[in-house]
Amino acid sequence: MDFRTLVPGAAGPGRVAADALLLLVAGPSLPEGLDPALQAAVAGALKLGDLECKPGRQLMLRGVAGFKAPRVLVVMLGEPGADGRIAAKAQRQAAQAALQTLKALDVAELAVQVAGTVPTPALARTLALCALEATYQYRLTKPSAAAPAKLARLSLLAADKTEAAALQAALDEGAGIGEGIALARELGNRPGNHCTPSDLADEARALGRQGAKAGLKVDVLERKQIEALGMGSFLAVARGSEEPPRFIVLDYKGGARGEAPLVLVGKGITFDSGGISIKPAGEMDEMKFDMCGAASVLGTFRALLALKPRLNVVGLIPACENLPDGRALKPGDVVTSLSGTTIEVLNTDAEGRLILCDALTYAARYKPRAVVDIATLTGACVIALGAVRSGLFSADDGLAAELLAAGEAAQDLAWRMPLDDDYDEGLKSNFADVANVAGRAAGSVTAAKFLQRFARDLRWAHLDIAGTAWKGGAAKGSTGRPVGLLVQWLLGQQAEQAAAPRPAARTARATGKASAAKRGA
Ligand code: BES
Ligand code: MN
Ligand code: ZN
Repeated sequence: MDFRTLVPGAAGPGRVAADALLLLVAGPSLPEGLDPALQAAVAGALKLGDLECKPGRQLMLRGVAGFKAPRVLVVMLGEPGADGRIAAKAQRQAAQAALQTLKALDVAELAVQVAGTVPTPALARTLALCALEATYQYRLTKPSAAAPAKLARLSLLAADKTEAAALQAALDEGAGIGEGIALARELGNRPGNHCTPSDLADEARALGRQGAKAGLKVDVLERKQIEALGMGSFLAVARGSEEPPRFIVLDYKGGARGEAPLVLVGKGITFDSGGISIKPAGEMDEMKFDMCGAASVLGTFRALLALKPRLNVVGLIPACENLPDGRALKPGDVVTSLSGTTIEVLNTDAEGRLILCDALTYAARYKPRAVVDIATLTGACVIALGAVRSGLFSADDGLAAELLAAGEAAQDLAWRMPLDDDYDEGLKSNFADVANVAGRAAGSVTAAKFLQRFARDLRWAHLDIAGTAWKGGAAKGSTGRPVGLLVQWLLGQQAEQAAAPRPAARTARATGKASAAKRGA
């Protein structure tokens, strides 16, 4: 899709040739300078009560006098808040509602005008992102699915060249993030037999080829190499499957040489049957989505290739299937992780933490600035937070605040969950250093506590996306979350890094002191 800006000048939006003009209107009163014919139509609808000044409410007009575009879709942004701005949520609601309506119509060229408030870069970004989101269509194993929407060009009207330049940068940013989200959705949606660990590795390699010039290098470790490293916990999960495991390493070097990287770790279980602790049959198909953490890492790297931030970012993806067979991991088995910690596997369905712990240990070798793992980790997180917010776990208040704020700005929300040491009790084992499950209580927290043992020396956060990565039911499909949150956070890190570069080792020590002080308090 083509995103551009347009300065209509004195001629006004009426002269803009397009299949539809989208007019985004901030209330409560109609802005001055609106075309008189439009003004009358919108004011009339508001007066009749057919249109309310709430985000996403809309009015479709056809054949408005003086307008070249045959359709004018009026969509309300709602009222600005106390700070005079339209909230991120309202912007998202309006853009989403508009694009949903437009994608069903024969609209290839869309012009967008913002009235009553300045078209901010944030709104431009949201528009581009929502346009890509609305036009995504899964087709790989259903070629008969409706053809992708026709929308081919979005032109955002700007007052002058300076404004146009700022908006164009924002549109490009939104498009880059939108492409990343689309890749995460596509990979998530692919059935288990079309998205094996090797397939994920191929996707990563394809990204590596596309990004070679931008500074991306992709390495795929195969079973022999994973064995040589000593990832006994990850390999134990992979044992029950004929599909060989893969450990995927993406290394993006957009920042200064030697600058400590940010590391993203994605759970890549391409199908989770539960293993010997097998899951009930109902909805087991949805466990093809158990690689959505990995998909979000790949999607984020796709966005990085489009946005080329001055940052060093590493992606780590342990990928395998969790299946039961004669060689499969059994309840009671004890495995030795890469860190040397022994783990008693009481439940083979708690496999995500078993592959992530080795990846977290591996992450330490990068001396990272921060590590964020992303995983469809627990059904308990779905019970706690549903499909609205991802679970965020971190002992580092600063990192937690950054990620929450990024989620808010990108409208890809998260909610902080606790990590008190008291939650560790249930993970004790008589036969190993740690057990892989505790009781049913606080299941998402005890899972995070398990991971935390392997992230002691890291500035670390964990995102449990079990409830947010995909939708079930009639709208079954991957959401692409939390690519929006992750990219927003990374872009913010770029700004922060430019302002105050700090070596990784110092950060880790400072963090340890801070949390020790807090525990003592
Ligand atoms: N992939 C699942 C988590 C999951 C379940 C996500 C349902 C979304 C919906 C994970 O591997 C798992 O099976 N977790 C178990 C852990 C339990 C055995 C402690 C769970 O949540 O039931
Ligand atoms: Mn499982
Ligand atoms: Zn799983």
